[in-house]
Amino acid sequence: MNHVASRVQRTSNSGLDKLFQTAKADQIIFSAGYPDANLFPQKALAQAAATTFTTSSQNLLQYKNSLGLASLREKLVARTADKDNIKTDATHVMLTQGAQQGIDLAARLILNENDGLIVEGPTYIGALAAFQAYEPTFYEVPIEADGMNVEILEKILKQHNIKMIYTVPDFQNPTGAVMSLAKRQRVLELANEYDVVILEDGTYRDLRYSGESLPTIKSFDTQGRVIYVSSFSKIIAPSLRLGWLTAEDHLFKDLLNLKSAADIESSNLTMSILNEYLEENELDDHIEILKNNYREKKNAMIQAMKAYMPRNAKFTDPQGGFFIWLTMPTGFDMDRFSDQQLINTNVRFTPSTNLYPSGSIKNGARINFTGESISNIKLGIQKLGEALSQAWQDQTVNV
Ligand SMILES: Cc1ncc(COP(=O)(O)O)c(C=O)c1O
Repeated sequence: MNHVASRVQRTSNSGLDKLFQTAKADQIIFSAGYPDANLFPQKALAQAAATTFTTSSQNLLQYKNSLGLASLREKLVARTADKDNIKTDATHVMLTQGAQQGIDLAARLILNENDGLIVEGPTYIGALAAFQAYEPTFYEVPIEADGMNVEILEKILKQHNIKMIYTVPDFQNPTGAVMSLAKRQRVLELANEYDVVILEDGTYRDLRYSGESLPTIKSFDTQGRVIYVSSFSKIIAPSLRLGWLTAEDHLFKDLLNLKSAADIESSNLTMSILNEYLEENELDDHIEILKNNYREKKNAMIQAMKAYMPRNAKFTDPQGGFFIWLTMPTGFDMDRFSDQQLINTNVRFTPSTNLYPSGSIKNGARINFTGESISNIKLGIQKLGEALSQAWQDQTVNV
């Protein structure tokens, strides 16, 4: 007898498990959203950990509260006012286990079974996996170079009962798109008009390699309908499992109750170490190092793609974030290509199918440029480009 709840099946089929498979020897991994492990501030974190252990009372290791460490929340209030134009206070900021938990809690807060949920198409695979467990009805709004198509967004809002819109306005995962200022304002205007909650995910916001930063949607929110989530994963290290969220009272109180029910609190030990790190180190200096490194890697990947991708392949050149989005002509099946080429090339990437709730778009691929070395980027893209050209020529993976 199958004891597993039916809702779990949808999460289990999300494809997320494939992303974190352990790499086999010599594999080049463009599939996951890995930061460059060589840039983790390991020494500074070790120093912060040593200081934390030697200077704190025994209480360091005690249960604390679901909001998270107060001094860390205060730092986030100051930082988000400065960088994101978000005005909040420490009683409306909660530390979560990565942005992933923020997404999950927001979905749990808002979505009943079959409630309408708008996502960008394509979107972040982990968000889709989290949403699936609440069994919403998905609506996809196609993403364009300047963010989601707001005409289609409006049409869906007019025709269907929608409760929440999930968006990654800055360096969207997987396309790298940045939502224009006009669209940010329009999305909020429409959410106000149709009384919808916006879940804004700013996970990549600090990692801009060119161009000017735009205000968050949350910064225009006068009605308290935007839940903003973000993360330390990409700017410090994913294994901290620390992210944060902010929302207004009417949503925040219940989010806090859900957080308590989910895991009581984030690790006070980890938060204390991070807090100590932030006292002793300038986070923006570290982010500058990341930006310089990732800009160089992104440029190396774009150059390799220009040299090796088939002529009918299109790819984005993002201003920030972690990903390049590659598309082949309609009819090309990236899933089949991925399975087929892996045997010969050992290069992994994420095919588009699982990045759309409908699973209907098969000719796209998400390619990460931050996790591998520049030499592997060049080698991997050459192998992938040659394999793509061959597959296209042979028509072996067309549907
Ligand atoms: C857009 C987006 N949001 C959230 C997350 C989750 O990050 P974490 O839970 O590590 O903070 C990711 C991870 O790749 C992401 O790409």
